[in-house]
Amino acid sequence: MTDKKEFEGRIERVLISKDEIDKKLKEYGEIIDREYAGKPLLLVSILKGAFIFLGDLSRSITIPHEIAFMAAQSYFEGTSSSGQVNITLDIAQDISDYHVLIVEDIIDTGRTLKVIHQRLKDRNPLSLKVLTLLDKPERRVVDFKADYTLFTIPDNFVIGYGLDCGEYYRNLPYIAEYKA
Ligand code: IMP
Ligand code: MG
Repeated sequence: MTDKKEFEGRIERVLISKDEIDKKLKEYGEIIDREYAGKPLLLVSILKGAFIFLGDLSRSITIPHEIAFMAAQSYFEGTSSSGQVNITLDIAQDISDYHVLIVEDIIDTGRTLKVIHQRLKDRNPLSLKVLTLLDKPERRVVDFKADYTLFTIPDNFVIGYGLDCGEYYRNLPYIAEYKA
């Protein structure tokens, strides 16, 4: 896509403003500061969707921590899930000396996190928790619950703040509903 009008025409409405996101970032930065004080903390972010969230969350945390990335694909194009999860990038480091916090953009069917959570759990981190920016509980296909959820949203496809539709819209500073 190269046409700005076409791009903007598919932004249905702002669901969560940048201000609302910033407030939650501050709140959860403080929660993580308290929870992991004095502990070796590793944030494991799932690319690509969580890249902006991870950047902001990391800067809202004031205690020392490391970051690492994994990548998984379950949506290949458009707004429908393929059902199959492929891990396309894995972390190389030993995580057995870390408290690991998985940082995800959205939990939809739950399939991606189920796979990633199990994969990390098998490597015996000191602890393993999940923090997600968004949760769409109505869409769950496999049982999965995050430890921390910033926003629970209804079953609409959303874009922005890292989340894409066909690789576009990740750059929107807010979260919006997509007009199909
Ligand atoms: P799940 O495996 O179905 O829970 O969802 C996995 C991935 O699908 C998420 O990490 C997102 O990258 C993507 N996804 C799910 N719902 C949406 C949405 O509403 N907008 C954009 N991406 C989504
Ligand atoms: Mg994702």
